[in-house]
Amino acid sequence: MNNFVYDIQTKVYFGKDQLGNLAPELKKYGKKVLLTYGGGSIKKNGLYQRILDELNKGDFEVFELSGIDPNPRVSSVNQGAQICKKENIDVLLAVGGGSVIDCTKYIGAAAYYDGDAWDIMLKKVDVKKALPLFTVLTLSATGTEMNAAGVISNPETNDKIGLIFPPLRPKVSFLDPTLTYSVSKYQTACGSADILNHIFEVYFNMDDDLYMLDTVMEGLMKTVIKYAPIAYHDGNNYEARANLMWASSWAINGFVAAGKTHEWTCHPIEHELSAYYDITHGLGLAILAPKWLEYSLSDKTVSKYKQFGVNVFNIDESLDDMEIAKLAIEKTKKFLYEDLHLDSTLSDINIDDEKFEIMAKKACNNDKINGFVTLYPKDVVNILNMCK
Ligand code: NZQ
Ligand code: ZN
Repeated sequence: MNNFVYDIQTKVYFGKDQLGNLAPELKKYGKKVLLTYGGGSIKKNGLYQRILDELNKGDFEVFELSGIDPNPRVSSVNQGAQICKKENIDVLLAVGGGSVIDCTKYIGAAAYYDGDAWDIMLKKVDVKKALPLFTVLTLSATGTEMNAAGVISNPETNDKIGLIFPPLRPKVSFLDPTLTYSVSKYQTACGSADILNHIFEVYFNMDDDLYMLDTVMEGLMKTVIKYAPIAYHDGNNYEARANLMWASSWAINGFVAAGKTHEWTCHPIEHELSAYYDITHGLGLAILAPKWLEYSLSDKTVSKYKQFGVNVFNIDESLDDMEIAKLAIEKTKKFLYEDLHLDSTLSDINIDDEKFEIMAKKACNNDKINGFVTLYPKDVVNILNMCK
């Protein structure tokens, strides 16, 4: 295992009726608050009014940025940064899913930069500081509520870029599972596929010195596989929503990945699909991941699939290794496509092969992806063809 620094500074208020802590916590960071949200789900489910009621308990001056799109655009980042500069905002309050929170992270960074926020995504400037960020999470999926990452899209260039900057990590996050009761079946399925894939990206690794972390990841995967179908059918099931919410944070808050070296694979490929076709992130991953697993299976990698199949799906370990691996992939497909009713091919979502070459090159950064199995653009095209 490699050396690492583990320093998660996000304070988490988990559970029902925790919003009473919002005003006292915010007060520590200032008075001028920029409240950000998406396309209106928080108005429909009453959360917007609850947040305003909480803010009214303190002496806050509240500004708003609404309409942040799924696959958030750099234009929203620039818009938010402008408000921060003009109004001297002290603290950011993002209420929503990954898109709202990611966008708000970069608003906090761009507030300290005079140029176009896209320069940050192009790494022309470093992010040394950002405005303090509070989040109220409404969708279990991305783990952004407890990590330092954020993904922003630029529709003009068909780019979707994810970067990690430590100052972007939220200061305080409110994780109330009841706030996800109103998430649709489709978004519940996509979010769960995303959580599972965050674990896949780390778990499928031929390092064999991470027994402790592998065991934690197997527990997280079992949690998603057990509770996602329950939340899908019974949206108001607290236990299911709570398990998914906490699993989403721990899948990608730096804990399970600490000490691992290799790059992620399905995420950069999926980000190209979202960049060109504006699809839901978790759906893209659900289509890609089983094909990636099939493509990466060989005599060299089969032992990892065996571990996965036996420990996560309880497949009989006396079977032949290759048979266990293939059964494990089939069970993964059953979970995604039968239990969660997600589409299983790119043609199901009207994506053809026109952009496969360009997306593959961009996913490989014009070089390669050094993941579980090293992939060159031609391999990525092969995987995309398997998804057709
Ligand atoms: O915009 P509103 O009206 O709020 O509706 C949203 C949106 O339409 C809706 N929604 C959210 N909470 C709801 C709700 N509807 C009803 N009730 C609620 N409680 O769901 C739709 C999707 O929301 P979005 O925020 O886009 O979903 P998600 O949380 O999956 O975020 C996806 C974005 O995060 C990025 C993805 O690439 C994508 O851009 N990711 C961020 C990561 C990170 N920061 O670490 C890692 C991930 O791998 C991912 O790449
Ligand atoms: Zn993801």
